[in-house]
Amino acid sequence: MRILVVGSGGREHALAWTLARSPSVEAVFAAPGNPGTATEDNVTNVDVDGGDFDALVDLVRRRDVDLTVVGPEAPLVDGIRDHFDAAGLKCFGPSKAAARLEGSKAFAKEFMARHGIPTAASETFTDLAAAERYIRQRGAPIVVKADGLAAGKGVVVAGEVDEAVDAVRGMLSGDSFGDAGRQVVVEDFLEGEEASFTCVLDGERAIPFASSQDHKPRDEGDRGPNTGGMGAYSPAPVVTPAVHDRIMAEVVEPLVRGAASDGMPYQGFLYAGLMIAPDGAPKVVEFNCRFGDPEAQPVLSRLRSDLATLCLRAVDGTGLADDGLEWDPRTALGVVLTAGGYPLAYDSGDAITGLDDDLPDSKVFHAGTAFGATGIVTAGGRVLCVVGLGDGIASAQRLAYQRAASIHWRRISYRRDIGFRALARASD
Ligand code: AMP
Ligand code: GLY
Repeated sequence: MRILVVGSGGREHALAWTLARSPSVEAVFAAPGNPGTATEDNVTNVDVDGGDFDALVDLVRRRDVDLTVVGPEAPLVDGIRDHFDAAGLKCFGPSKAAARLEGSKAFAKEFMARHGIPTAASETFTDLAAAERYIRQRGAPIVVKADGLAAGKGVVVAGEVDEAVDAVRGMLSGDSFGDAGRQVVVEDFLEGEEASFTCVLDGERAIPFASSQDHKPRDEGDRGPNTGGMGAYSPAPVVTPAVHDRIMAEVVEPLVRGAASDGMPYQGFLYAGLMIAPDGAPKVVEFNCRFGDPEAQPVLSRLRSDLATLCLRAVDGTGLADDGLEWDPRTALGVVLTAGGYPLAYDSGDAITGLDDDLPDSKVFHAGTAFGATGIVTAGGRVLCVVGLGDGIASAQRLAYQRAASIHWRRISYRRDIGFRALARASD
C-alpha cells in the first residue's frame, strides 16, 4: 500500500513512522510533513499544504496513493473526507458532518444529550446577559468554552463567577477567539482524573487503542495556562479494565450508534477526552475527530498491529478484526520540549543540537522544527516530543528525560514531572 499522511506536527510524525513500519506499506508520503518525517525510512515529504484539498487529490493521483490518513482537525472539519469521497479516493477520517463533534462544542453537547452519553450539564449562549444569569445561578467553579476550534485554548476553567462572566464577554465579543467564540458553552465543573481514549471507527463499530493521559497545563503540578499538551503517557492507570468497559459501553458504543442513526456514520480516529470520577464513572469533556497530540506519540510507540491495514479496513467497510490490537506491554512516556515563551509568543529559528544521540528504547518525534541553513532549527511552540519506553512508568519516564537531556537550543523549556499521577498510583 502507498499512504499519504496529511499534516506537519508531532502526531503526524508518529503516524507516518508507524505507517511506514506497517508490513502492508510500501511507501509513505507526508504533506507537508516536517524534518522528522523527512528523515524516516520509507517516508517522503511533499510540499503540499494540508488545507489545499485539490492539490492533495492531485498528489494522490500522481503518486498512486491508495489511502490518505488525515492528522489534524482543521482539514477534517473543513470537509477533506467529503472532498476525497467525491473524487473517488480513499481517505481515513470522519466526514465534515461527523467532524462537527469536534468543530462545534454546542453540537457535541446536543449530540451527547440526544444519545444519552454522560457529560457535564451545560447550556449554550450567544447572549451575554443570559449567559451571566446562568453562571450566577450555577455558581463556581464553572467552565466556559468557545464553541469553535481554538487550538485547545478556548476553554476557561473559572474558579470565580466573575472570571467566568469575563471569559464569556471576551468570547462573545469576538476578542478572544474570533468567530470561534461567538457562541459559548457554559458547563459544570467535573471532578476526577482525566484520560484520553482513542478508537478507530468504521461506521458500525469501534476498536479501542491503548489508553493514555496528557498534561495540558504548561507548568509542573498541572498549573499555569493551558497548552496543546506538554507530555503524555500510555497506558493511563486510571483506565482500569472496569473503567475501560464502562467507556466502551457508555461513551463509544452510544456514539457509534448515535452517529449512524443521525445519518453521519463515523469513520476515522475518535478521541474522547474523559473525566473519570472517583467511582470510575466516565464523563465526556470533549470529542476530537482525530488522534491526540502528544498522545499519538507514546500510544503509537506501543502499537504492534498493522495500522495501515486497520485504517484501510475501516474505510473499505470490510470489518475491523474482532481480536483487537496488539500492544507492547511496556509503558511509553513522551515529554514535549517547547520553545521559550510557549504558549504565548515564542522564539523560533534556534539551532537544535543532540538530535542524533540515539538512545535505545527512545524516539524523538518532531513537531515544530524546520531545516535551517546549517541544520534543524525550532519553528513552533511545541518543538519535539521525546518518548521513552520502559517496564513501568518510572523507567519510561527516566528514559525519556535521559534522552531529552542531550537535546539543546536557546531557551528550551519542558516540564520535569510528566507522568506524576501515574507514578503516584504506581507507588501506592
Ligand atoms: P477541552 O478543550 O474541552 O478538552 O478542555 C481543556 C481542558 O479544560 C480539559 O482537558 C480539562 O482539563 C479542562 N476542562 C474542560 N471541561 C471541564 C469540565 N467540565 N470540568 C473540569 N475541567 C474541564
Ligand atoms: N492533547 C490534547 C489534544 O490532542 O487535543
